[in-house]
Amino acid sequence: MKLFGVLLSLAGLLSAAPTPQNKHPLALRDGGNLTACPGYAASNVVKTDSSLTADLTLAGEPCNSYSEDIKNLKLLVEYQSVDRLHVKIYDADLKVFQVQEEAFPRPENGKTNSADAALEFNIVEKPFSFTIKRKENDEVLFDTSSSQLIFQTQYVQLRTSLPKDPHLYGLGEHSDPFKLPTDNYRRSLLNSESPNIPFNSNLYGTHPVYFEHRGGKGTHGVFLLNSTPMNIFILRDDAGNQSLEYDTIGGVLDFYFLAGSKPHEVSKQYADVAGYSAMFPYWTFGFHQCKYGYWDVNMVAEVVGNYSTAGIPLEVMWTDIDYMDLRQDFTTDPERFPIDKMRELVSTLHERGQRYVLILDPGVHAVAEQASYARGHEQGVFLKAADGSDLLGVQWPGSVAWPDWFAPQTTEWWIDEFRRFFNPETGINLDGIWVDMNEASNFCPNPNCDPYPEGNPPIPQNPPRPNTGRPIPGFPASFQPTSNLKARADTNQSKGIPGREWFNPKYSVYNHRGGLSDFTIPMNTTNYDGTKQYDTHNMYGHMMALTTHDAMIDRRPELRPMVLTRSTFAGTGRKVTHWFGDNKSAWEDYRITIRQMLAWVAMHQMPMVGSDVCGFNENTEERLCARWAMLGAFQPFYRNHAEQSTIQQEFYQWPLVTEAAKKAIDTRYKLMDYIYTALYYQTKTGKPMINPLFYLYPEDANTFAIQEQWFYGDALLISPVTTDYSTEVTYYLPNDTFYDYWTGSKIQGQGANVTETNVNYTSIPIHIRAGTIIPTRLHSANTTAELRKQPFTIIIAPSDAGKATGRLYLDEGEKIAQPDVSEIDFSFDGGKLSVDGSFGYKGDGGESITVERVVVLGQEKEGKVGTWDEGRKEVVVEGEWRFDGAWGFEL
Ligand SMILES: *[C@@H]1O[C@H](CO)[C@@H](O)[C@H](O)[C@H]1NC(C)=O
Ligand SMILES: *[C@@H]1O[C@H](CO)[C@@H](O)[C@H](O)[C@H]1NC(C)=O
Ligand SMILES: *[C@@H]1O[C@H](CO)[C@@H](O)[C@H](O)[C@H]1NC(C)=O
Ligand SMILES: *[C@@H]1O[C@H](CO)[C@@H](O)[C@H](O)[C@H]1NC(C)=O
Ligand SMILES: *[C@@H]1O[C@H](CO)[C@@H](O)[C@H](O)[C@H]1NC(C)=O
Ligand SMILES: *[C@@H]1O[C@H](CO)[C@@H](O)[C@H](O)[C@H]1NC(C)=O
Ligand SMILES: *[C@@H]1O[C@H](CO)[C@@H](O)[C@H](O)[C@H]1NC(C)=O
Ligand SMILES: *[C@@H]1O[C@H](CO)[C@@H](O)[C@H](O)[C@H]1NC(C)=O
Ligand SMILES: *[C@@H]1O[C@H](CO)[C@@H](O)[C@H](O)[C@H]1NC(C)=O
Repeated sequence: MKLFGVLLSLAGLLSAAPTPQNKHPLALRDGGNLTACPGYAASNVVKTDSSLTADLTLAGEPCNSYSEDIKNLKLLVEYQSVDRLHVKIYDADLKVFQVQEEAFPRPENGKTNSADAALEFNIVEKPFSFTIKRKENDEVLFDTSSSQLIFQTQYVQLRTSLPKDPHLYGLGEHSDPFKLPTDNYRRSLLNSESPNIPFNSNLYGTHPVYFEHRGGKGTHGVFLLNSTPMNIFILRDDAGNQSLEYDTIGGVLDFYFLAGSKPHEVSKQYADVAGYSAMFPYWTFGFHQCKYGYWDVNMVAEVVGNYSTAGIPLEVMWTDIDYMDLRQDFTTDPERFPIDKMRELVSTLHERGQRYVLILDPGVHAVAEQASYARGHEQGVFLKAADGSDLLGVQWPGSVAWPDWFAPQTTEWWIDEFRRFFNPETGINLDGIWVDMNEASNFCPNPNCDPYPEGNPPIPQNPPRPNTGRPIPGFPASFQPTSNLKARADTNQSKGIPGREWFNPKYSVYNHRGGLSDFTIPMNTTNYDGTKQYDTHNMYGHMMALTTHDAMIDRRPELRPMVLTRSTFAGTGRKVTHWFGDNKSAWEDYRITIRQMLAWVAMHQMPMVGSDVCGFNENTEERLCARWAMLGAFQPFYRNHAEQSTIQQEFYQWPLVTEAAKKAIDTRYKLMDYIYTALYYQTKTGKPMINPLFYLYPEDANTFAIQEQWFYGDALLISPVTTDYSTEVTYYLPNDTFYDYWTGSKIQGQGANVTETNVNYTSIPIHIRAGTIIPTRLHSANTTAELRKQPFTIIIAPSDAGKATGRLYLDEGEKIAQPDVSEIDFSFDGGKLSVDGSFGYKGDGGESITVERVVVLGQEKEGKVGTWDEGRKEVVVEGEWRFDGAWGFEL
């Protein structure tokens, strides 16, 4: 959300001297005199059936280019499963930072016999390098021999050769092309507040995983578990040879190689490492509305009312920081958003079958009168300055203290604050939570800034509270001032080398906000566990999001939490989801949402994603908003949200947008069980709920770079108009059979582009891929609760061979424990439909499990059953049937 215009421009003046950020990306790679670096030599190579270890010793005089060379390293190679190889290069002394287990739980090592593995590791001892090969076809997937390994205290470099014009994806978060540029392209991973989501830039999240697709030769993935800021380059040298180079300012080289070989198998294998997505409540697929700048609770209510009047289904209402008293977390503005009115708002929404979500920021107003701060301070939950006092920065409320998410008492405090403020009996009984500004965003432009902006009262100075570790005689342990600091097995291992250059390491990682510590928590800040922000900065939002998830679970242990976070790290998707941040109301940003969605769902295992529909910053425009209302309906998370200073952009503001939104939501809602099923299977199997075209046509090179079309689920090809103010769209139809979703007509794709004209602002081309079966609801409804009472229609789209399959997952929609679920398989072959599977879900809450009709597309004649629609070339068979046991029929 947002940036303070004034502070931002002020910040521009105050920030440090320009860094080399504006030079050609390759410029950042020079200056360290790397040619003199000696590399390493391997010795003591020990192989077992499922592993290899070796010592790596610096093979000459240190070059100390960007910092000191570390002399003794270790290599660990583990064949963790048939399709996963773990390769780790780390310092023998275990001083260099390694990502904490609590931030990223490591996958289990299945100790596969290397003879059975899909990948093969080969070591070259001197100079040390290694290759990784796909055994099946001898494809070399990774080869580090083209440069020396450099492993210094503040600089680590490893380079792998790539085939010419490689097809690479991932390495989020960015707004760059879905298939990454390969001509001296830089990705910098340094989480940062990023208004208007700039190109070629670091953004809010860090996901150091790339997928490389080699057409018929397979797809593989490479994940580097490292949270320290880094640049990753995709290079082309003068001879035309290509490589990918990691340049980090710390951490170890902890790689997971994922064998694929199908694209969706890489997605699954990445989920095995980073975690499978959380399952989100059914209602999160409803339509959401938010705006920064709703001035009081009445206005919020009026927006809800206006949606009803307009006949546009609104599922979830959100409130931005407007609700807070002077922008302070866990408070309400007593005049504008009084607590009793807020409670009434929520209960009214709930009676209407609607939901409510609020925002929280990490910075807690550091004044003694602020009860949440006082309690947090008392419990020692905040990051500390050098003198032991709470480290201060500046955020919305003024001077703020930053929770230290690595301290166990912080979780307890945060959970307790949730219990108090979001108490269903006395507080705001919200349904989901949104955490923002958690990169963390600090309005202080640099570490020397005064965190007391004018008018902000100074906080009382509390003496530092040393942990004496002494029990107080005769008193329970809770009376020890810092006894709530839980003891940890502190081995001092891998916490990060002390005494590094925290602010301006010689090797610099590009940051569009300036220096490393600009506009964030200073990198020299120490976390509770002894690690430094320098190494953990990129996980600040991730840790906040996970803690917030725990707080939501504590409030309502039986319900799936809906937590939305701006800042993320690899693995955040296990519990929490993300929207694409503060985009702007522009056609380019509308287009960007598609490629961002593709990468997040398929490559980062965070499926419940979307952008601020109609754009966040700057005023939107009717036609753009109409198109976006339709596009957003076919992305997983569907929320209209705008910045404070913009015009209101609720869908009911314009007749055209109203019409587009009604049609879009009507279609989305009818398809909700289909996409909910796709999410469910992604949480279980890692197979993405949104498919890039190359996932379904991996050998069709025309699909590799497509970033303005996608499969919603695996059956519906969405091809929106993407040109500014145009009513024409050129889209790709693979060499396959399709049906027009709107007319039912059969279309033979030619592996070529198709141009459609007269696509008005309330239309979006959708094609059903032949061979699929899509469960839909017969009618849409004003809320998802009402939708669930609608009977089903099953759409069968037979292949040329007359076959089709599909699935449907049904459950109660919101509970974590779902004892009674249905996993239904549809199959159609030779005119015969059979519906089978498990049928535990009975719809006892009044939800429908009735199937009223089955529609078979592409039929040239009448069948034994049903009615043939000659115009639409479909047979409609009226039920009814129920999803309470197997059934079927023959046409
Ligand atoms: C690079 O390092 C080598 C060996 O230390 C040294 O001889 C050479 O002068 C250095 N080059 C530059 C440009 O600093
Ligand atoms: C560059 O590619 C050529 C041709 O593939 C190869 O002969 C040469 O060794 C490569 N150079 C490097 C530095 O890898
Ligand atoms: C709600 O609709 C009324 C009538 O069109 C309009 O005057 C008012 O501004 C709308 N309120 C909001 C918050 O959009
Ligand atoms: C939706 O429709 C139901 C049934 O007509 C009604 O009870 C409910 O209040 C409506 N909810 C909204 C948000 O319009
Ligand atoms: C971090 O560096 C700043 C700027 O040099 C300094 O003022 C501050 O005391 C340091 N903080 C800690 C925790 O050492
Ligand atoms: C960890 O390091 C600190 C400071 O360097 C030292 O005081 C402490 O004894 C060490 N703890 C262990 C378990 O080695
Ligand atoms: C299209 O697919 C069919 C069947 O798979 C194949 O026979 C045909 O050669 C393909 N056409 C093109 C242009 O690739
Ligand atoms: C389809 O059109 C796009 C953009 O106009 C173009 O980049 C692409 O190469 C075309 N694809 C084919 C198969 O012609
Ligand atoms: C847009 O096109 C659709 C489908 O062709 C048509 O039903 C609808 O009436 C059109 N809407 C407008 C505003 O022209």
